[in-house]
Amino acid sequence: MPVKKNILFVDDDPNVLDGLRRMLHPMRKEWEMAFAPGGEQALAALAEKRFDVVVSDMRMPGMDGAQLLTEVMRRYPETVRIALSGHSERDLLLRAVGPTHQYLAKPCDPELLKSVVARAGTLREVLSKDALRQVVSQMQSLPSLPQLYLEIVKELRSPDASIKRVGAIISKDMAMTAKVLQLVNSAFFGLQRHIADAREAATFLGIATLQTLVLSADVFSQFDHARAAGLCIETLWNHSMATGTLAKQIAVAEGCEAKGCDHALMAGLLHDAGKLVFAGNLPEQYRQALDMARDEALAEWQAEQRVFGTTHAETGAYLLGLWGLPDPIVESLAFHHCPNQCPATTFTPLTAVHVASALEHESTNSEEDPMASRLDAEYLVRLGLADRLPAWRDLCADITQGETAQ
Ligand SMILES: [Fe+2]
Ligand SMILES: [Fe+2]
Repeated sequence: MPVKKNILFVDDDPNVLDGLRRMLHPMRKEWEMAFAPGGEQALAALAEKRFDVVVSDMRMPGMDGAQLLTEVMRRYPETVRIALSGHSERDLLLRAVGPTHQYLAKPCDPELLKSVVARAGTLREVLSKDALRQVVSQMQSLPSLPQLYLEIVKELRSPDASIKRVGAIISKDMAMTAKVLQLVNSAFFGLQRHIADAREAATFLGIATLQTLVLSADVFSQFDHARAAGLCIETLWNHSMATGTLAKQIAVAEGCEAKGCDHALMAGLLHDAGKLVFAGNLPEQYRQALDMARDEALAEWQAEQRVFGTTHAETGAYLLGLWGLPDPIVESLAFHHCPNQCPATTFTPLTAVHVASALEHESTNSEEDPMASRLDAEYLVRLGLADRLPAWRDLCADITQGETAQ
């Protein structure tokens, strides 16, 4: 029998709680559910026992949802925090961006809720090593889904989404604008003319690429002021950009459909995000791991394994999983150093990311992590793709040469 998940629902409206109770009745074999009519009562319930997930209404008298989830984040960082909000509560929702892992709109769709909770649960099981959980729970905070991403997703979900408005949202943020312009004007795209306007750049890049960029640029900027623990953010950003670009080109070359190519791009950009989580939250131990990798000629992830009992790959996957990013992306992060542990038997975004990251390290001869350029030959043979390597190397050479030509 799998262990039941403990879930706490919080809403000041007794009708909403009754509705949830009835609707989720069929889940009682898998979920142990509790219901609290307000923030204070929720905190009292949380003090009594451990909850895996808290689902809270936003607009409540007294302590509102944003305050409650912030408090939950402070006291029980390992608890998954979900905001349940009405359409008119945009202002409140944006205030809850910090402490919230996931957003659900009212009226709550039971299937969606089930999948969100199951994902939080599955991830915990897949990545359920005690060590990872311990590391994560020691962290003051896991970075939450960037606010700009939320705004862009909202725009994209609206029935009359416009790339113009997406461009407008981006142009509100300097760092984001700089990243977008840097990208369109880079050799990656080989444009003849220079684009200097965020809106024009947005139109050129298209929506999927923008979502990814917004997400990764924001993830990186959240750590701009983090004590960087010997981690060079600049180097990591360059490696991530190149890995994302190359992973996408590899996916295109392998005839992946558009979605798979986007997943490869996004996973490539974010594959090492776990390093930022370590550097931002546990800088001393992380420095120790980096020193150990250098002194004992280990791969960074092997040294992390010794110091933390888990790796940046698993930690990053855990974080992106909490954000609700698609499974192929989470999987790419989790297994990017040891793809053979993933049961898939065909080319996936994971394949693209594993190869792209290794080739990128190899070609830049990075001193950062010399052991990171380990291609898993056995994995490529198992997938029947070993003979594609020369073509992928050519793609990589094009990208890195493009970069130096800049
Ligand atoms: Fe990595
Ligand atoms: Fe990497």
